[in-house]
Amino acid sequence: MGRLKELRKYVDGELNRMDDADERNSAIAHLYGVSFAATMIARKRGLDTEITSMAAMLHDLHAYKTGSYDEHGHKGAKLAREILDELKLTDEAETKLICSAIYHHSDKLITDTSMDEVLKDADVIHHCMYDLSKTVKEKEQARFEKLRTEFGI
Ligand SMILES: [Fe+2]
Ligand SMILES: [Fe+2]
Repeated sequence: MGRLKELRKYVDGELNRMDDADERNSAIAHLYGVSFAATMIARKRGLDTEITSMAAMLHDLHAYKTGSYDEHGHKGAKLAREILDELKLTDEAETKLICSAIYHHSDKLITDTSMDEVLKDADVIHHCMYDLSKTVKEKEQARFEKLRTEFGI
């Protein structure tokens, strides 16, 4: 089994513990949607598609497990490290890249490393394009416009 598939199996198990069916469905749609978007963006920019996609699968897991978005990027990075240490799917350098992307993913108004930026952009693509009838959040507008230009969409 590929390691992205193995990580998804683990994440599926965690999400299946969520009691509320609507919240669980939204969580699944979001993590898989951001993971897919991260693969596309990383491919376009010549970056590691597997690592960015793995980061996306874990990026909001802390919020889903606890029901709180308070500092969920920072807390989620710690949780991701625990999971990756346990699953032994990544080496230390890869774990650091994944945890950094998760740690910074809520900082949509600033620019971080190229790998961090893939996760932020994938998150914004999913927030903005999952339902085009929804209004784009103010803090995501500039990033979304930049992505529309980059991808010609
Ligand atoms: Fe998030
Ligand atoms: Fe997210």
